[in-house]
Amino acid sequence: MKLDQSRAPIYEAVKKLTEHTIPFDVPGHKRGVGNPLLKEFLGQKACQYDVNSSKMIDNAMHPTGVIREAEKLMAEAFGADEAFLMVNGTTSAVQAMVMAACEEGEKIILPRNVHKSAINALILSGATPVYINPRINQQLGISLGMSVEDVKQTIEENPDAKAIFIINPTYYGICSNIKEIVQIAHEYEMLVLVDEAHGTHFYFSDHAPQGGIQLGADMCALSLHKTGGSLTQSSVLLVQNQNINPQYVRSIINITQTTSSSYLLMTSLDLARKQLVEKGNKLIDDAIELADYARCEINKIGGYIVFSRDLINGDTINDYDVTKLSINVLNIGLSGFEIVDILRDEYDIIIEYGDANNFMGVISLGDTKENIDLLVEALRDIKCKYQKDRLQRVKVEFIIPEVSVSPREAFYVRKIPVLFTESEGLVSGEFIMCYPPGIPVIAPGEIISKEAIDYIMYSKEKGSLITGTQDLSNKYISILVY
Ligand SMILES: Cc1ncc(COP(=O)(O)O)c(C=O)c1O
Repeated sequence: MKLDQSRAPIYEAVKKLTEHTIPFDVPGHKRGVGNPLLKEFLGQKACQYDVNSSKMIDNAMHPTGVIREAEKLMAEAFGADEAFLMVNGTTSAVQAMVMAACEEGEKIILPRNVHKSAINALILSGATPVYINPRINQQLGISLGMSVEDVKQTIEENPDAKAIFIINPTYYGICSNIKEIVQIAHEYEMLVLVDEAHGTHFYFSDHAPQGGIQLGADMCALSLHKTGGSLTQSSVLLVQNQNINPQYVRSIINITQTTSSSYLLMTSLDLARKQLVEKGNKLIDDAIELADYARCEINKIGGYIVFSRDLINGDTINDYDVTKLSINVLNIGLSGFEIVDILRDEYDIIIEYGDANNFMGVISLGDTKENIDLLVEALRDIKCKYQKDRLQRVKVEFIIPEVSVSPREAFYVRKIPVLFTESEGLVSGEFIMCYPPGIPVIAPGEIISKEAIDYIMYSKEKGSLITGTQDLSNKYISILVY
């Protein structure tokens, strides 16, 4: 039976609860009265709706009321069997997927350019990674999707793996051939897990690539907060496989998810789902149109190379998400890091992220032509003011490191700090990455290469935020001691 997607059960219940009731429960700010500065900052409504679980508004740990209704609506909206509302981002959805699929020592196949949440999932679950090197577009200096041939070979060599992990899309908007990968993986009874942190909108437009659930994947983790219109940190975990026990998945989620799930976040998921179902098609098609307009205008400037659907090659770029305005800037003579900084400091324009060779701006539900024009003007101005000789493409980010021990083993053994610049050849005990996007250049258990050191030092010099090490100054990195 079709559900009534115009409803938003959590939203309705929270509004009703806070209309007349007097709170003698937490949160202690008591709907903003106890913290006037917070109330001034967030507004009366946000404070009023920041409530804790109770009978009328259900409980995310064990939902039987409005949260359960919202989950069912969410599952139906995405065509999945089950949906779980997540208040700790796609990070915890990725971790729950991996833990649901693999037990300690079991193999999982994954591309090495995963987000750190996936490698942290290996630490939590004890699963053993079998990495597939993503293919590289040398001209643009970006990693691509997984080739079906590579996947097939890896699956044949590791028929005992429990799951395969796919990113849909990558940070730059690139999609692998999920449909074929699902077919191969399912022949070997492997689960297909998809990190769709950047792909929520795929489900609501015929002009976008398809979502993992539509392509037969078993579990997908979606950051609704990134491209679906909900509040930061709110995500969804979808399941489409009758053999995966939803109660087991919930018990995994409950290991790390808070017992005080934020109703602001959950309500935002409820309202984002309602909007996506009712108006998503138009909103996303408008965003795609704006992205095409931006692409066209930026190409007219010259020098900048804007990625487009022309990249599609039927394999490692099986599809392309045009709402990722990904731009190669080497002809301008600046790095992506520098362009991001200049746009912020001189033009008040905030970009999602940059790396050595490129930068990427997200076009989504709330963008306007006026804002796109400001970005185009700024890029034209930057080219006039700053253009220098073409930069050499920096390659190191894509060198797949040698794995010495599993991430979990590396995480738990004794470690000592050494100067990062003198760590070549040693085994790292921690992550190091440029953030965003948060793809580890080095992950726990990997041998630190000279190229990785050079890349991190270069990125730091160009202004990238380097994260992951316990030492906040990034001078030292912990290495394994045997
Ligand atoms: C590919 C990918 N996966 C997972 C995550 C984690 O998502 P969240 O920030 O919602 O925890 C991110 C975040 O940027 C991401 O880019």
